[in-house]
Amino acid sequence: MVSIVEHPLVQHKLTRLRDKNTQPKEFRELLSEISSLMLYEVTRNLPLKEVEVETPLGIAKGKVLDNKEIAIVPILRAGLVMAEGMLQILPSAKVGHIGLYRDPQTLQPVQYYTKLPEDIHKREVIVVDPMLATGGSAVAAISILKSKGVRNIKFVCIICAPEGVEALESSYPEVEIYTAAIDERLNDHGYIIPGLGDAGDRLFGTK
Ligand code: PRP
Ligand code: URA
Repeated sequence: MVSIVEHPLVQHKLTRLRDKNTQPKEFRELLSEISSLMLYEVTRNLPLKEVEVETPLGIAKGKVLDNKEIAIVPILRAGLVMAEGMLQILPSAKVGHIGLYRDPQTLQPVQYYTKLPEDIHKREVIVVDPMLATGGSAVAAISILKSKGVRNIKFVCIICAPEGVEALESSYPEVEIYTAAIDERLNDHGYIIPGLGDAGDRLFGTK
């Protein structure tokens, strides 16, 4: 299940992200903003309960979120900035971290850090990483969460390759994928074409 977020603000910011001339400061701001906007779609079906609220002039019927406990889990490094953007509009979410990097030769994910909320198994979990390329990192992160008993997982990225969507769907068909774009293909080094380049390097200026 893949949802492409076509909202004009998301698509506008995605184009700025792709531009090779966009520098790290603006790149971080755009990724944070686009992530907040995408969370709007991701949380569209959260349950609500009816409450009454006293206004200065009377009693109004209102709706509040029905105790749906959420955790945001960024895949390090690039997912960190997405998590920050989502926390702007969902500040009560807990945050878990999964550190993975791709071995440049094998393209296999290497795990180097995991720190998750103790009650992660009770939460709806939103895994965030801007790039779904081969899908290896997303599958590894989700398998860590599954091993902790998490049942309810959504995966949010900014750009996918068709290969990554296929890998994630075949390993975990129950995980909903949200993205702003599905690009053409991977190149021989596992980079998404046309993509936006190396997300971590562009965010943190490491190359
Ligand atoms: C990038 C990206 C994803 C991964 C996607 O991270 O942020 O985590 O590659 O590729 P995959 O779908 O083929 O696994 P990278 O491994 O470069 O680590 P970094 O964020 O620390 O730079
Ligand atoms: N990781 C990135 O940062 N970019 C890609 O295109 C693929 C993997």
